[in-house]
Amino acid sequence: MKRLLTGLQPSGDLTIGSLIGGIKQSVEFQNNYDSFIFVPDLHAITVPQDATLLKERIKKNVALYLACGIDPNKNTIYLQSENLYHTNLSWVLECSTYIGEANRMTQYKEKSKSRENVSVGLFTYPILMAADILLYDAAYVPVGADQKQHVELARNLATRFNHTHGDIFTIPEPLIPKIGAKIMDLQNPTKKMSKSNENQKGIIFLLDSEEIIRKKIMSAVTDSEGKVYYDVENKPGISNLLTIYSSFSNLSIQEVEEKFKESNYGNLKKEVADLVVESLLQIQKKYQEFMESGIVDEVLNQGKEKVNELARKKYEMVCKSLGLGRY
Ligand code: AMP
Ligand code: TRP
Repeated sequence: MKRLLTGLQPSGDLTIGSLIGGIKQSVEFQNNYDSFIFVPDLHAITVPQDATLLKERIKKNVALYLACGIDPNKNTIYLQSENLYHTNLSWVLECSTYIGEANRMTQYKEKSKSRENVSVGLFTYPILMAADILLYDAAYVPVGADQKQHVELARNLATRFNHTHGDIFTIPEPLIPKIGAKIMDLQNPTKKMSKSNENQKGIIFLLDSEEIIRKKIMSAVTDSEGKVYYDVENKPGISNLLTIYSSFSNLSIQEVEEKFKESNYGNLKKEVADLVVESLLQIQKKYQEFMESGIVDEVLNQGKEKVNELARKKYEMVCKSLGLGRY
């Protein structure tokens, strides 16, 4: 079975964007791949975090993954910070990453624009991500479209390293979901729905209450045309609602368009809200059960042990190929 690996940041509470762009694919893939899912908590501190909140979120995220259908018997689940080899390998990779290539990363450009004191960690973030992937010979990396460039960097770094030092790394491939690749902000539908946006009115969090979910969807920004059809350029708000419906119902965009072609915007929103509420309430019920049991620690302990052993072996190979240490 080929290995697949992905991580979801604990930098904010998980949204339906994280569910559709990340977790949902992992649930589908867990039957066909040797799946690794981890919390990249070291990536979270590239921007300032409150320690108490971060700690809470890590546990919440893992409980949410499980509640969303990630099966601990089919996945290896772990925390990035509990395996020191991630940062060790990241350093090694930094030494063969060109400044120009790191400079081209669009997420860094985006994220650094809106901040004053930009950390070096935010700049080298994609290299740590490459280490996360290459350490375990992941063949596939399911990510949202915005992360594709980072996976490509990992491919380039692996290819370069192998070329010079022998066949050490597996070359990873990104897996980008076909529909729902990008869920947009409900208040600003030309912008990605992101858990770190300041205005929370446009974001649906997985743990939002029914009342809040309905309110947010009913007040989603649309347009004045009054006709329901899919056109991202001219009707970003309506297209986003159709995408959300499509992702939660597993119907194609065409089928959803057909279903709502006679609806007004109010009806469309109500149906989208009903569907999202129904799905999220189920997830929330399971989430509560997992938070109250000891399962999160159990799963993480198992994962930690397994990945440390795998990573140690890979890191030793890397050191050996570079002449580091005494292997
Ligand atoms: P984030 O929740 O921003 O840490 O991202 C976690 C995963 O979900 C990554 O693979 C993202 O690319 C994906 N993701 C996050 N937000 C969205 C969104 N609004 N639409 C699609 N995918 C998303
Ligand atoms: N950068 C990813 C995100 O923002 C999270 C991440 C870190 C990741 N390391 C990874 C995803 C390795 C896939 C593989 O969501």
